[in-house]
Amino acid sequence: MALVTLKEILKIHDGAVGAFSVYDQFSAQGIVAGAEEAGLPVILMIGSGPLNKPGNDYIGQLMVQFAKEASVPVCVFLDHSKDLKTCLKAMKLGFSAVMIDGSHLPLEENIAITNKVTEAARALGVSVEAELGALAGVEDGEEVKQAKMTDPAHVEEFLSKTDVDGLAVSIGNAHGLYKGEPKLDFDRLQTIAGIAKDVPLILHGGTGLTLEQFAKGVQLGIKKINIGTEVKKTYIETFISTHEKNVSAYDMVEIPQACKRAVAQMVKDKLEFFAKGWKELI
Ligand code: 13P
Repeated sequence: MALVTLKEILKIHDGAVGAFSVYDQFSAQGIVAGAEEAGLPVILMIGSGPLNKPGNDYIGQLMVQFAKEASVPVCVFLDHSKDLKTCLKAMKLGFSAVMIDGSHLPLEENIAITNKVTEAARALGVSVEAELGALAGVEDGEEVKQAKMTDPAHVEEFLSKTDVDGLAVSIGNAHGLYKGEPKLDFDRLQTIAGIAKDVPLILHGGTGLTLEQFAKGVQLGIKKINIGTEVKKTYIETFISTHEKNVSAYDMVEIPQACKRAVAQMVKDKLEFFAKGWKELI
């Protein structure tokens, strides 16, 4: 159907759109298949770490191709780039959205790098996501030990000095598997949403959050939810369990197909909940 921008995809329905991490051809196909089965839009994302591995440009190219051929709207998204160079590379590959993550920088520097990326992206009709506050946890093999919650006092200044299509927030969410029960600061989210007004808010670290937490987040203004670890977990657990059924087959044809189907089912369930199911829990 269509490769669409982040700005466009976040307006399609009144829930949140799921963004799922891609690692290879089969994870990408599974994500698109899940969205097609649900009949809902989806965001195919790849981290700057995986995209920059040798030979991995082709995964970016495949993501763009799959998006163009899909029967539902698909946004192809670069996740967590800390530099302009990787954003430009993704734009050259045909991505429709990039994230410039200056959350580790002082506010003024975060604003400056975000504006540099936005200037380049606007010329190509590409959307931009930024981040304020930093998440703890492991993303693309990089560990951030100490979270920095998004300071509502910074939100107005950041949004008035930039022109972004989405803002990722840190409200107790973390990348990777949560250690213990995740606790989200919904009062903070509500305050941020009041300041951000029509700028969509983004929730990273979706793996391990409860349905109630997703529902409350969407109710308060979350429009995009990132899921990475659950894609890997679903894929690898299916790979191992399928292989263990017939170890001597080393079946490189059927095992990836099983992984693809398992990822598709997980994505379908999540997309349906983020788009509509959350309303039943409010
Ligand atoms: P999880 O791996 O915790 O699902 O987080 C993914 C993410 O937020 C990518 O930006």
